[in-house]
Amino acid sequence: MAKPLNVLELECSACGKKYDASVEQHLCTCGKPLLARYDLKRAAATLTLESLQWRPRTLWRYAEVLPNDPPVSLGEGMTPLVHAQRVGASISTTGEGATAKRSISPTGESTGSEKGGLQRLFIKDEGLNPTGSFKARGMTAAVSRAKQLGAKALAAPTAGNAGGALAAYAAAAGLPAVIVMPADTPSANVMECQAFGAKVVKLNGLISDCGKYVAEHKDREGWYDVSTLKEPYRVEGKKTMGYELWEQFGGKLPDVILYPTGGGVGLIGMCKAFDEMQEMGWIGEERPRMVAVQAEGCAPIVRAWEAHQTSAQFFPNATTIASGLRVPGPLGDLLILSMLRQTKGTALTVTDDEMMHAGRELASLEGIFAAPEGAATVIATRKLAASGWIKPEETVVLFNTGTGYKYAEAWQRALQSTAAE
Ligand SMILES: Cc1ncc(COP(=O)(O)O)c(C=O)c1O
Ligand SMILES: [Zn+2]
Repeated sequence: MAKPLNVLELECSACGKKYDASVEQHLCTCGKPLLARYDLKRAAATLTLESLQWRPRTLWRYAEVLPNDPPVSLGEGMTPLVHAQRVGASISTTGEGATAKRSISPTGESTGSEKGGLQRLFIKDEGLNPTGSFKARGMTAAVSRAKQLGAKALAAPTAGNAGGALAAYAAAAGLPAVIVMPADTPSANVMECQAFGAKVVKLNGLISDCGKYVAEHKDREGWYDVSTLKEPYRVEGKKTMGYELWEQFGGKLPDVILYPTGGGVGLIGMCKAFDEMQEMGWIGEERPRMVAVQAEGCAPIVRAWEAHQTSAQFFPNATTIASGLRVPGPLGDLLILSMLRQTKGTALTVTDDEMMHAGRELASLEGIFAAPEGAATVIATRKLAASGWIKPEETVVLFNTGTGYKYAEAWQRALQSTAAE
């Protein structure tokens, strides 16, 4: 059996039970996700800002804190961090420091502009990953590990983008894939899976129903289950978003991160990355305040956050055009909510109309054609800046988690309704 190069062991995120990383593992016996642990002292000896300068421009540049090598890679990661000056300037702020008048680049130098609003608003544009979303990050790590562990076929339920990414990486690995998705998943996601040669199963239901289908069939069919958080390595790929922010800000982290949260893997991954950075001595105890942005029509985390609960309840009748946010019962609820608390973050909702409106703003003001999930973070920023929760002088990062090109149906409707106005 192949041995991981770097992972010492897997540890349950809820009860702390340890598991052998050299064999296939999924959930803990307590039902909760497992997280990979590394020898971070050893990693810190070679993983430095300086050494990173010479490494390949993919997420595999952080090899010391990733599971294995050589990877199944399509060039994922190192996405642009765009200084969103026009959208930033258009955001009304209240509270102390509202007179801040400088525009500053990621590494901190002033560019001398005299606009108000949020001067340090940045967009991490994940739409530029292979298959057009940040799901590529998780899948490069998960599929690489699955292949090393001898998986014969890969399967996952998907809201859309994860399926496309899994199908692409399975093709690159030379492995068959089965993708189970709601029947009303955006057509681009269905087509890409079919083109990549995956078997597509469409169900009348939500991602939670698709997850049940995979769980019921996987043993009989011999599938390796790549469902969100049901294997330990998608989080590892997604955590590199946190490492990239640190590197792109020149060894610093932003004050606030807004993340469109469905299953929450990126949020969990980034917080894990920040803990690892602290253990490596790169940062202290301070953390960016994490903000979970959800759709009004599917907001289990926001409802739990508002009710001061530590776990989320299944959100009934979930509907939103942001298919990636249509996750009514996220398995990582405990982790997400505890990370929001630990980082002094918050959680809030955005309506579908607001998302499409913000999508048009992002496209026309910044040249970024965003997924509705990513556009949602602009509205959330407006709300939080208006209430004073985000201060004008703070460095704020929005995650555009996917490209707008995958959402032809939603964009068509939104543009038609504007034309009719
Ligand atoms: C574009 C997009 N944004 C956000 C999400 C939610 O991702 P996560 O599971 O990391 O919360 C998804 C998931 O499908 C997605 O496709
Ligand atoms: Zn456990």
